[in-house]
Amino acid sequence: MSSAVKSFCSRWTSLLLVLTLSLVLASCSLRQTEPDTIRIGVTVYDEQDTFIASLIQSLQQDAQQAEVRYGIKINVSVADGKGNQTTQMEQVDRFIKQGCDVLCVNIVDRTAAAVLIDKAKEAEIPLLFFNREPVEEDLRRWDEVVYVGAKAEQSGVLQGRMLVEAWQDDTERWDKNGDGVLQYVLLEGEPGHQDALLRTEYAAKSMTAEGLSAQKLAGDTANWNRGQAASKMRLWLDQYGDAIEAVISNNDDMALGAIDAFLEKEMEVPLVVGVDATKQALDAIEQGTLYGTVHNDADGIAKALLDLCLTYSGILEDSQAPHLEKGHYLWFSYQEVTAKNIDEWRQSLN
Ligand code: BGC
Ligand code: CA
Repeated sequence: MSSAVKSFCSRWTSLLLVLTLSLVLASCSLRQTEPDTIRIGVTVYDEQDTFIASLIQSLQQDAQQAEVRYGIKINVSVADGKGNQTTQMEQVDRFIKQGCDVLCVNIVDRTAAAVLIDKAKEAEIPLLFFNREPVEEDLRRWDEVVYVGAKAEQSGVLQGRMLVEAWQDDTERWDKNGDGVLQYVLLEGEPGHQDALLRTEYAAKSMTAEGLSAQKLAGDTANWNRGQAASKMRLWLDQYGDAIEAVISNNDDMALGAIDAFLEKEMEVPLVVGVDATKQALDAIEQGTLYGTVHNDADGIAKALLDLCLTYSGILEDSQAPHLEKGHYLWFSYQEVTAKNIDEWRQSLN
């Protein structure tokens, strides 16, 4: 070969090499700019519920941060079951048809879990229940079913202890009729909800276990709702008036509703305790109307849900996955918050 031909050939080879290399590089960078998408289908029992709304907000924020951290797209669709199990079933069917990678369900009716689990199993889509707990027997129907929540009885025990502590600190203030017994009314959450049943049971048990003698004047459901609790409380105030020395409420919204009723009637607010530690409840503790609450970890539950979604989608390695108790449960602890520890507690969140 003449030297002119040789140099022509070698120039061609280098050109080809450069071309191939840039093509390879281009396709890699193409893949980088086109991230994997994870689709998460979420359905809640009622979007208006204060606690659930804050949990969902937290989940959406966590998902946005994870998109940046892992260079992926996370599509979170949230459907509102509006308190209707049939509606929620249809929402789950739709998520399955759309090809969601993981389902997160805050089930309307806890006894309908088995049907939902069987649907998810058939479609092979992992199913995460949260806040409204199916029975263990149902969770065992399939390996890829998890419940994320907090142990209800613990919140009741902590409420009871808070009441005992308040009573011991200042019996004279709370025992209005001076008979040495705490007369209370109890606002219950939705009938059949594990948190309503167990908080009611354990708040009373733990008060008596700690040696406080207490007398229940009245108790009824207000369905977790502030307005319903205020109406109930107005009726009780007409009936019992000053005889009410404490209000034990299964959640903060109802505790705030009870306080609304006392304030409306310009009556002195008695010893009131709630559960959740919502923003409004923390403000009420600072204003001195709510004695205390028990923190129900919405942010922790949201983060655990997202971590599980990332694990099931293969973004997190199994070694980074949250630990599941009995293969199906992820539990969060409750924590009491009163005027005594609120500053410290707020700081611990930052
Ligand atoms: C919360 C309530 C909420 C309910 C909804 C409970 O754990 O304490 O505030 O309304 O869950 O399921
Ligand atoms: Ca009394």
